[in-house]
Amino acid sequence: MKAGEKSYKRYTVTSALPYANGPLHIGHLAGVYVPADIYVRFLRMNNEDVIFIGGSDEHGVPITIKARQQGVSPQEIVDKYHEIIKQSFEEFGISFDIYSRTSNKIHHETAAEFFRKMYDAGQFIEKTSEQYYDEETGHFLADRYITGTCPVCGFEKAYGDQCEKCGSSLNATDLINPKSVLSGNIPVMKETKHWYLPLDQYEPWLREWILEGHKEDWKTNVYGQCKSWIDHGLQPRAVTRDLDWGVQVPVEGADGKVLYVWFDAPIGYISATKELTPDWEKYWKDPETRLIHFIGKDNIVFHCIIFPAMLKGEGTYIVPENVPAFEFMNLENDKISTSRNWAVWLHEYLKEFPGKQDVLRYVLTANAPETKDNDFTWKDFQAKNNNELVAIFGNFVNRTMVLTEKYFNGVAPPQGSLDDLDRATLREMKQIPGRIADSLHHFRFREGLAGMMNLARLGNKYLTDSEPWKLFTIDPGRVGTVLNISLQICAQLSIVAQPFLPFSCAKIRQMLNIPEYKWQDATLLNWLTAGHQLNKPELLFQKIDDKTVEAQILKLHATRDVQPPFMAAPSDEPRLIAALPEINYDDFSKLDIRAGTILEAEVVPNADKLLKLKVDTGFDQRIVVAGIAQSFKPEEIIGKRVSILVNLAPLKLRGIESQGMILMAENPDGTLFFITPDEGAVNGATVK
Ligand code: MF3
Ligand code: ZN
Repeated sequence: MKAGEKSYKRYTVTSALPYANGPLHIGHLAGVYVPADIYVRFLRMNNEDVIFIGGSDEHGVPITIKARQQGVSPQEIVDKYHEIIKQSFEEFGISFDIYSRTSNKIHHETAAEFFRKMYDAGQFIEKTSEQYYDEETGHFLADRYITGTCPVCGFEKAYGDQCEKCGSSLNATDLINPKSVLSGNIPVMKETKHWYLPLDQYEPWLREWILEGHKEDWKTNVYGQCKSWIDHGLQPRAVTRDLDWGVQVPVEGADGKVLYVWFDAPIGYISATKELTPDWEKYWKDPETRLIHFIGKDNIVFHCIIFPAMLKGEGTYIVPENVPAFEFMNLENDKISTSRNWAVWLHEYLKEFPGKQDVLRYVLTANAPETKDNDFTWKDFQAKNNNELVAIFGNFVNRTMVLTEKYFNGVAPPQGSLDDLDRATLREMKQIPGRIADSLHHFRFREGLAGMMNLARLGNKYLTDSEPWKLFTIDPGRVGTVLNISLQICAQLSIVAQPFLPFSCAKIRQMLNIPEYKWQDATLLNWLTAGHQLNKPELLFQKIDDKTVEAQILKLHATRDVQPPFMAAPSDEPRLIAALPEINYDDFSKLDIRAGTILEAEVVPNADKLLKLKVDTGFDQRIVVAGIAQSFKPEEIIGKRVSILVNLAPLKLRGIESQGMILMAENPDGTLFFITPDEGAVNGATVK
């Protein structure tokens, strides 16, 4: 322990509770759960007393709006997505000690008690004010129930709590031209009473605790946001709402009022701990516990200012030691968006890439948006898999295993006398775990991952430089030494890669026939002694080919803006998808759609969905790749009259440049139909 560092006995690690109103996508994993999981796995390997808390955030306005739109209860919505989310976490190896949910009884009790204690101590301001009200539906319109023009940037679809365009945090009364989301009506003002947390009173403490106390150890993005909030002057903030979904406000005269979702949700970390262990208090009240919150950057103010003020106000809790917030992960150069269906959904990835959880964990960590937004692209996913996991990590382990099998029947050979290369390699191995540990202690996950890959690179280079395959007939003893050291590197990889790639490390341990080691054992360098029997080699990673990633890119573009079935109302019948958001004539008039004729059609080799078409557009003949091969045979559609979008930017699919898009009607069950112009419309006729 360095001078000035606090001593500690245990860790409470939380990860933001995702809203249970949709499944998870790669942005969630990259920005919160993969780094949190790496950190926790690393702490556990260091024999730390650590609990890792997760759960679904099941309150809040977006959930009630969705339930209304789909004609179901909010509980049905959260039940459905809680299960999907929980399962995705399990399958990706996110090793929560508990994954709970805020609709639980224990959470309602805990949150109500928390509020009540602060209320009794006179910690809230009670205030009646005028708020927007929808007279037609009888609702007060807070947060996402109201939209209007952002006073800061002029964006027309800002919400009552935030503008998603410029990120400004807003009050409903700030909006210009406010409109009720429920009825579309212009709201009226009506009096209502609420309780406010006087954040301004916490300012001196926040300054001292964050601005003076955590200047060095908090990430600059986190510290900077806190400083800007505090310097702009903190205002009392309402912590109750007029809603019927949430934790009821536990005081007289608060009928029809619930706790603001951002008041109850972080208390969910505490409720989940209570659910996990009767000994929960030491994880929340002992000053020698390190509380760490993993979150995305949009959650910073809630975890660094509001929740700590609540904890401080309640009086018996510790406050976070660190809040390593991540920036955002984009997808193919565009912001990930649930409403525009621009996302890689985890439950779909798991179906389409079975057994490749570690590949995604690896790619998301290598590109972790630690200090700035970052981009996930399928081409980079493929490159990192093929050039790093397969060509370096997997190749090294596989070569070592196969050579040992070939020359020594899968029995670890003895380490004979060492030459300079051996000694240098062993010396380097000694250094690696300490460097990775230093990175992880400081939340530098990309650096930690790179340190781990350096060990795989070291192994690969060692094997390549020693060339054991050339030596067996002349010097089998030397081959034994090289393979012994290579096997030690494999064993060391199974330890230092464990926080990052837990599935692959389990496979390495199985192949090497070794136990799961602790971090302190990562510098032993003699995990396998001569005579140790290995198991059969097995490939850790497989190459991902062009057609696989191209299919993913095609799918992204083809389903853009289309509501995926798992977002629809819970029902067995396929239903028509709801209408997309309104556009104006200008948006529409940008589309250049023409009548045309399919002249030629052929299957695209190795692509079960694609047909390559040649289409007469009236003014040219062009190639279009269409994802219709499962519905039509090439010979059936030659001569077919079609509608074709001719000014779509060309897209390369399976190496073929597609110049346009054939318009198709799709029934709810997925059957496809051409949009054929009536006879008389010549090729090139414009469709408007
Ligand atoms: N549901 C919130 C979000 O997705 C995060 C809640 S974190 C908690 O942004 F602390 F409030 F639980
Ligand atoms: Zn704005």
